[in-house]
Order: sequence, then structure tokens, then C-alpha cells
Amino acid sequence: MQQTAHDIFAQLNYLSLAEAIRSKGYAIIDHALPIELETALFNHLVNTPAEEMNTAGIGREQQLMRNEFVRRDEIKWIEPESEVEKVWLSHMENLRIMLNRQLLLGLFSYESHFAQYHAGDFYKKHLDAFNGQTNRVLSTVFYLNPNWQAEYGGELVIYDPENHNQEIERVLPEMGRMVIFLSEEFPHEVLPADRLRYSIAGWFRVNNSINNQIDPPK
Ligand code: OGA
Ligand code: MN
Repeated sequence: MQQTAHDIFAQLNYLSLAEAIRSKGYAIIDHALPIELETALFNHLVNTPAEEMNTAGIGREQQLMRNEFVRRDEIKWIEPESEVEKVWLSHMENLRIMLNRQLLLGLFSYESHFAQYHAGDFYKKHLDAFNGQTNRVLSTVFYLNPNWQAEYGGELVIYDPENHNQEIERVLPEMGRMVIFLSEEFPHEVLPADRLRYSIAGWFRVNNSINNQIDPPK
């Protein structure tokens, strides 16, 4: 994939993104990636055979506990297997380097998975990281839903770090939109939609071994 003018605009967005994370702890960016890449990711996900998408687990018990009362999405971890996954990972690597330069977060690695929520699926209010228990520092969610309309539902609801009952944002999962937030700070939830909802969830991680605990297994 060629570098396009879009990448250059994206670089500018990434600077205001760093500023947003610094000042309020989260950012919402539209058209975060080149349009060819979002289209290629969408096609890849749509064409992924159903048996490769697995029911997601929760945190540390990922392999053992599948709590369908908490989350109902199906996921597939991204590996540099296909061209489009490689390009995705290289963009997120650039983002990691830029965020480290701007924010001095010491982000060390990035992991991400495709996710699909069928009609009615949800992910109840949760934190992606508990203080001192994982290496996840910064969460990312990238949306792959062309022409998403408000009446379809499926919003990401972000809550106030100080008051977990106070909503601060409702984000529609529109094609090309990326949401980035501090993993330990912001409770968030996925509301049910009336149709398939696609996303890529990911986490920038630090490399500290915290209390000899390791992150949840993939
Ligand atoms: C997650 C998550 C949000 C979304 O996978 O941890 O919170 O909007 N996803 O898909
Ligand atoms: Mn989450």
C-alpha cells in the first residue's frame, strides 16, 4: 500500500490525539487510517470463516471462563499472517512510536483482535486493565462498519473515571473511527446493536513484570 495524502493528514491527527490523551485521557479520531486500509480490513473480517472467530473470554480466565452475561462478542487475534494484518500492525507500530515520543508512556508492544458482535450482543461495563494486574496501558478500538446509522445502536459508552455511573461519551462505531483511552482509567461498555457490528480492539502494553503476574493468555 502506497503512502497517500491521507497518511499525512493522519499524522496531524495523531499529534492532536496525543494532546487529547495528555489532557483528558482519551481521544476519538475519525478517518484514523488510510481508506484503502480500512476497506481491506473490512473485507478481511467479512471473509474470515465463522469457525475462526471464537467466543471471547474475560481477562485472566480467558481460556477457562466464558461469561456470556458479561460479553458476547466473537474474536480473532491479529497476527502478522496476511498482508492486511501486517499493514494494520505497522500502522499501530508507528502510532506506538509517536505516542511514546509525545507522551513518554514507555509503550513496549501492541496486541489486537478482530471482534464481531452479532445483533443483540453486548459487552457490559468493564475496565480493560486493573491497577497493577496487567501490562495494558492504552486501549484502542477501531470500527469497521460502513454507513452505520444512530438507530442501529451498538454505541461504545465511556464512563467517568471518578464516577463510574456518569457517562461521558457515547460513540457510534462508524467506519474508520478510532477511540483510544487509558486502560486503567475508563470503564466502558458496548451496547447491543440490531445488526452485525465489527471492530478491532487492541492494547498498547508496557513491559514491566508486575507482581510476577503475566497478562491474560491469548
Ligand atoms: C473490548 C471493548 C469496545 C468496542 O473489546 O474490550 O471494550 O467498542 N470493545 O468494541
Ligand atoms: Mn474493553
